[in-house]
This record gives sequence, C-alpha cells and structure tokens, in this order.
Amino acid sequence: MADKNQKRDKFGSTFGVIAAAAGSAVGLGNIWKFPYIAGVYGGAAFLFVYLAFIVAIGLPVMLSELIIGRKSQRNAFGAFKVLAPGTPWKYIGILGVGAAFLILSFYGVVAGWSVHYIIVSIQDGFASKSPEQINSLFSTFIESPVQPVIYQLIFMLATAAIVIVGIKKGIEKFNKILMPLLVLILIGLAIKSVTLDGAMAGLEFLFKPDFSKLTGDGILSALGHAFFTLSLGMGTLITYGSYIGKDNNLVKTVINVTVADTVIAILAGIAIFPAVFAFGIAPAEGPGLIFITLPNVFHQMPGGFLFSILFFILLTVAALTSSISILEVVVAYFKEEFNMGRRGATVLATVLISMLGIMCSLSMGVLSPVTLFGLSFFDLMDWVSANIMLPVGGLFIALFIGWFFGRKKVEAEVAKGGNLSGIFLSSFMFLVKFVAPIAIAIVLLNKIGLLNF
Ligand code: TRP
Repeated sequence: MADKNQKRDKFGSTFGVIAAAAGSAVGLGNIWKFPYIAGVYGGAAFLFVYLAFIVAIGLPVMLSELIIGRKSQRNAFGAFKVLAPGTPWKYIGILGVGAAFLILSFYGVVAGWSVHYIIVSIQDGFASKSPEQINSLFSTFIESPVQPVIYQLIFMLATAAIVIVGIKKGIEKFNKILMPLLVLILIGLAIKSVTLDGAMAGLEFLFKPDFSKLTGDGILSALGHAFFTLSLGMGTLITYGSYIGKDNNLVKTVINVTVADTVIAILAGIAIFPAVFAFGIAPAEGPGLIFITLPNVFHQMPGGFLFSILFFILLTVAALTSSISILEVVVAYFKEEFNMGRRGATVLATVLISMLGIMCSLSMGVLSPVTLFGLSFFDLMDWVSANIMLPVGGLFIALFIGWFFGRKKVEAEVAKGGNLSGIFLSSFMFLVKFVAPIAIAIVLLNKIGLLNF
C-alpha cells in the first residue's frame, strides 16, 4: 500500500510538464522510424492519414491518460485501484508496467548503439571507410557479446541517475535542458541538410504525396506509430499525469506535446532524407537507416564530422528523455505498491530491466540461434510490446474513460486549470467511446493475423 502521508513529488512549472511529456514522446520513434515509414508509404499521402490518427485517436487517448493520472495521483496500476476499486480495470496497469519492462529492455540496446556511435563519430571513424566497411562496422559491433552490453549499461545508468533524483529535480530539470538542446541541434542539422546540392530529391521522397504507395499496411502503420510516438497505451502519461498540478490546463498540454512531437518527427525527416538523397544513397529500413545509411552520408559530406557527432548526440538525448519516462512507470509502481523508497525502487527496476536488456543485446549475436515464434529475443520484446501490449492498453484506457469514468467526471477533471465542454467534450467522448476502440481493435486484429486487408 502507498503511504498516504508521503508527499508526492510534482512538476514545478507548465513548461516543465510540457518538456517532460514531449521528452517522453520524442524518441527513437521520431528520429528513425517516422521519416522512413513516411517516405515509404507515400510521403504527404501518409502524413495526411497519420495526422488524422494523431488528432482523432492520439490526442483523446493522451488526454485520457493524463486525466487518469492527475485524478488518481497514483502510478499506472494504483491509479485504477483508486478510480475503480474492486474491479479488474487495474490489470490495464499491470499490463502497462509489463510493457515498460519489455520496451525499455530493447530501447536501451538501441540507445547504447547510439552512445557508441557518438564515440565513433568523435574518432572520425567513418571517414576512411568504404560502404562495406561501414556496414560491417555496425554488424560486427552489434553482434559482439561485450561492447554493446557495456554501452547499454552506461545508458541505463544515465537513465537511472536521472530518475533516482526524483520528478522535479531529476526528470523535469533534465528535460528542460535536454529538449531545447535537441530542438536546436535538429534545426541546425535540417538547415545543413536542405542546403546541400541535390537536397530536393529527399524532400520529394518525404513530402510529395503519392497515393498509390498508401497501402492498407501503410494505414495500419500510421495508427501503430501514432501510438508509439506519443508514448501511449502503457501508462507513461498516467504516471506523468500524476505529477501534474491541479492548475495545469490538460487540454493545452496535450495539444502542445502532440504538436511538438509531430514537428520534431517532420524535422527529423528534413534533416535525414535530403542528405541521404544528395549523395545518391538508397535509404535503408529500420536501424540500418541511422547506423549504416547515415554514416555513409557523413563520410562524403563536407562538415560530416561535426554533423555526425551532433546527430548521435541528438539521437541519444531523444532516447534518454524517453527512457526516463519508461523507467519511471516501473519505479512509481514499485514505490507506491510495495512501499519502497525511490532509491531502492530505481535500483531494483534498473537491474531487472537491464538483465532483460542484456538478453536482447546478446540475441543479436551469440544468442541469435535462440528464437521464440521465429523471433529473436530482441524482436520478440519489440513485437509483443508495440503490436500487442500498447494497443491493448490504449484500447482499454479509451474504454475506461469513455464508459466507466464517464463524461461528468471528465468535465470536472479537465475544468481544473482548463475547460472542455459543449461540442468539444461531446466529440472527445465520442472518440474515446467508439472511434479509438474500434480503430485500435482493427489494427490489433490485423497485426495478429485474425483480420486481413
Ligand atoms: N515515444 C517514444 C519514441 O517515440 C518511445 C516511448 C517512450 C514509448 N515511452 C513510451 C512508447 C511508452 C510506448 C509507450 O521513441
């Protein structure tokens, strides 16, 4: 049980709330995943669908999570016990805490690669290499049993070091410094990229609407990605919401965070593709885009040395402000449900997640023969969390707010520091009651193969 007399740590300012929530949202998903899927599925045509999902489903689910968190003043699991005592709703919270374990275990691996690539960049490690060498630099590194694990643990330690300090002095303070830094680096990189000769082709790849490329798969990816990029479905924003004061305008916060996340994803595309196309390199999919394609670009580009260092710092910072939000879900849960101190909860969560994470890292190399359902450990953690746990979580969060919590309580909670009424409130209720659950259910059934387009 949580200690009722224990004073809850809180965010100190409106900007702090936005920086923290946007810090969670802006991550690896924005920098490498979004630009690529946007380009592949028809540029502006995809963007259009993606934005529709962000507005119609992302915004309402994000607001739902913040309402649950602020109203209950509890962690993702405890929140449902407070708001719906004696009901099974609390299992949504358990699912979220579980998802946090899985996501952070593989997220930390990729973030560790990014830390390593800062060092490689500083040593000017791409300069003298052929494309084949840049390729094998990456595959040799990620398959090795020791080095990536060390970088991953360094990253996890940095995450823990911020979380252990607490909400206001740790998480909020670091986001307030790191997020503006991230935006500055990104704007600098985008300007450099679009001013290269031949940049136009990259902008076309990203923005030229091509409706013939917008397949059913593209539409499903748009919804799945809308969830991942906004950090929804896992209780991250329930947890952060529980640290938001009664004077905060939740609707405004949600809009600010969503706009920031979307603008940063588009900026990342502008920083990456013009540079890639300017050097006539075919963009790779997934991690390869960042760790193989881009180093090939840096290698040829005037000023590529500096560009590469800044880019991997950017990527690491984006990952760090997200990873602290994921760790905090578990820490808040341990702290309040098992009455642990913040220090003990952080150490325990970090150790457990890192152990799972080491398995993920090793599954790239020595453990690669070990598979489950045909997936390596890394891919399994990714697949189960992103395709199953987050959508299921988001689905039930929307249903909870729409059908259990209800219109009156929503109106009352949002009225603290803001306002949502009339047609806006009705639209919100319609979205969380019907639109979001149905859309998520369709995507979910399709992902697990029960429904096919
Ligand atoms: N949104 C982050 C990204 O785009 C990742 C992330 C952080 C996340 N917290 C989350 C994803 C919670 C799902 C759920 O990289």
